[in-house]
Amino acid sequence: MSRFIVSGGNKLSGSATVQGAKNSILPVLSAALLCEGENVLFNCPRLSDVSAAARILRYLGCEVKREGSAVLVNSESVNGAEIPDSLMREMRGSIIFLGSLLGRRKKAVLTFPGGCELGPRPIDLHLKALKSLGVKIRESRGAIECTAPDGLKGAKIALSFPSVGATENIILAAVTAQGTTTLTNAAREPEIADLCEMLNKAGARIYGAGEGVVVIDGVKSLKAVEHTVIPDRIVAATIMSAAAVTGSELMLEGVIQSHLNAVTSVFEDSGCDIKFDCGNLLIKAPERLKPLPVVRTMPYPGFPTDAQAVMMSAACAADGASVFVENIFEDRFKHVSELTRMGADIKVENRVAVVNGVKKLYGAEVRARDLRGAAALVTAALAAEGETTIDGICYLDRGYEDFELVLGSLGADIKRI
Ligand code: EPZ
Repeated sequence: MSRFIVSGGNKLSGSATVQGAKNSILPVLSAALLCEGENVLFNCPRLSDVSAAARILRYLGCEVKREGSAVLVNSESVNGAEIPDSLMREMRGSIIFLGSLLGRRKKAVLTFPGGCELGPRPIDLHLKALKSLGVKIRESRGAIECTAPDGLKGAKIALSFPSVGATENIILAAVTAQGTTTLTNAAREPEIADLCEMLNKAGARIYGAGEGVVVIDGVKSLKAVEHTVIPDRIVAATIMSAAAVTGSELMLEGVIQSHLNAVTSVFEDSGCDIKFDCGNLLIKAPERLKPLPVVRTMPYPGFPTDAQAVMMSAACAADGASVFVENIFEDRFKHVSELTRMGADIKVENRVAVVNGVKKLYGAEVRARDLRGAAALVTAALAAEGETTIDGICYLDRGYEDFELVLGSLGADIKRI
């Protein structure tokens, strides 16, 4: 189990290029199952979740190889329709293969994705929607057997919650269904628009991606494509938090301004100066942040739940009290106990966390228990006095490519052991 050792207190400087988006490449890799031939996916980050997705694609009969920052997926001969539990358990997000497998093979047998560090991860919205597309679902002993003997048929679907994964699975199942599917209350995350751009290049007919209503006219088949994945807005938010906690000025290269509006406005309210300049973001943080405005996590374009933990690190040493309300996941404050070990003053009541800014954080032995919590501990350690050892860096490697190298190149004193 790798760990980081961070000696805090350094000012950071310079610029970092933001990696491709984990939550975009995962559904795009799933969509490659539908695009028969050799797909070339550019700006694909080196992440353990991407390796897990590649193992699933290979198991299903695809050829997957990496050439630099591109991943090539040849889905000419997909012959499987079953994903074994061992592969499903490697990555929570593997449920995203359900829709594309049904679209390509009209069948999918996989196990319920395990609950994870964020609490139970139900898939009721996915299954209810797929049933309305004509999928028969049998559940037994933790496995789900989905079949569409007469093929998938377009339908009108209204999601009770704009679930990102459910929206993606519905689109992946509907693109080659017979007839039109209208999806209302769809998730609007930029990663969904990215997935639909890739599918439309392959010959799909999807309208309104990124909006609340998405219309999908089913087509017979899709062809292989080349696609460049959007930058990771959560990694960008994490590097911004690193600047904020250390009172530094940093340049982030390759960001999309509109994807960061909710995050940028919180950093600006806390006293950071942020400028955008043709695809680059310049953040200049004050010596000490002002208290943050109330941070309520919401579906996009609201404040992203994935940035809650790293924003909380920035609040720990701010001047005054900051309030966080986690509206998306039941249990997404696991980083609080570890930040407290570093001297943070945080009170949690159900979905609300109140952070009273302290003068200083201190190095400690801490342990990450989820991906974004790990990122929060790393950013807090950059500001802490003394040395912090962070266990559980395998969680960080799920979503951050070579993060100690990125931070080291900005002047952080950080080692992986
Ligand atoms: C995606 O997860 C992301 N993962 C998550 O990022 C992100 O936090 C989340 O969207 C919200 O933005 C990937 O894209 C791989 P949801 P997903 O379905 O699709 C409930 C990270 O750190 N729900 O929008 O699982 C669910 O329990 C990860 O990169 C149901 O009740 O999120 C949760 O409370 C973490 N029934 C809420 O909806 C369902 O059928 C949001 O879930 C589905 C979801």
